[in-house]
Amino acid sequence: MDMGIKGKSAIVTGGSRGIGREAARQFLEEGVRVTICGRTAESLERTRAELAGATGGEIHAVVADMTKEADIARLVDSAKQRFGTVDILVNNAGQMYSGRFAVLNDAGLKEQLETKLFGFMRAIRFVYPIMKAQRWGRIVNIIGGAGKEPDPYMFGSGITNSALLNITKSLSTEFGADNVLVNAVCPGWVDTNLWQRNAQGLAAELEVKSEEEARRLAARKNSLNRFGKPEELANAIVFLCSERASYITGVSLNLDGGRLKSLW
Ligand SMILES: NC(=O)c1ccc[n+]([C@@H]2O[C@H](COP(=O)([O-])OP(=O)(O)OC[C@H]3O[C@@H](n4cnc5c(N)ncnc54)[C@H](OP(=O)(O)O)[C@@H]3O)[C@@H](O)[C@H]2O)c1
Repeated sequence: MDMGIKGKSAIVTGGSRGIGREAARQFLEEGVRVTICGRTAESLERTRAELAGATGGEIHAVVADMTKEADIARLVDSAKQRFGTVDILVNNAGQMYSGRFAVLNDAGLKEQLETKLFGFMRAIRFVYPIMKAQRWGRIVNIIGGAGKEPDPYMFGSGITNSALLNITKSLSTEFGADNVLVNAVCPGWVDTNLWQRNAQGLAAELEVKSEEEARRLAARKNSLNRFGKPEELANAIVFLCSERASYITGVSLNLDGGRLKSLW
């Protein structure tokens, strides 16, 4: 299927690994020109070079920390200078702030909010005028299932994620008249470095001895009884950013192998 986005310019935040890297790869395969960012220059440049070599596509990399407004402004400016405009924003850079209420602290929560809540909002603030002026834009926020179904162990991520769902719906209403579509993807557990960083904590939370056992129990909550793969997330992200999704806005798509059992 032709996605109808060849030649468009996309920013994928946190594109050096995991879900962001795979989304960048699939955009490049569609002929989209891609700007990726991350905080670590070395891994970012390695990914840029690998994806350019593997796809032959146009990819630009900017070292930027999404907790810093000046970095976000520089990222958007740099993408615009390199590719002329910004048509697509995938707000993906982030982490998980896990742990129960008693162990969370203000500093950790503030960092989570700076990265995912303010980081996402600021990026939208910078790209929206560009998209509005050209009357075409796609914004996809990568959020997480704990925003819909609170989990005491995911308290810090959950409250950030609920706010992001609200922002997604609100802005989809506000930007609709400009043909700027705003949607969200809510991953369940996906096989990335983020899972590896959290495996020990989850094993302790689930009171099991090994990370393998934690993984098995976590996967069992999913109807498909397995973790997701980054490419399965990227398939949906690229679709939501495509011309094929021209009548979809304000949606938050659960990509969790059937983990959430509620009706929305
Ligand atoms: N994997 C899951 O199971 C899962 C579940 C629910 C939600 N999610 C969400 O999906 C998104 C992607 O997760 P992932 O699993 O692909 O994570 P990942 O493998 O850890 O990759 C995260 C990417 O974001 C970058 N990044 C992190 N903090 C950043 C910051 N402050 N500024 C700029 N870049 C930053 C990282 O590069 P640097 O470290 O070099 O900056 C890396 O490129 C995240 O928002 C996460 O919360 C993931």
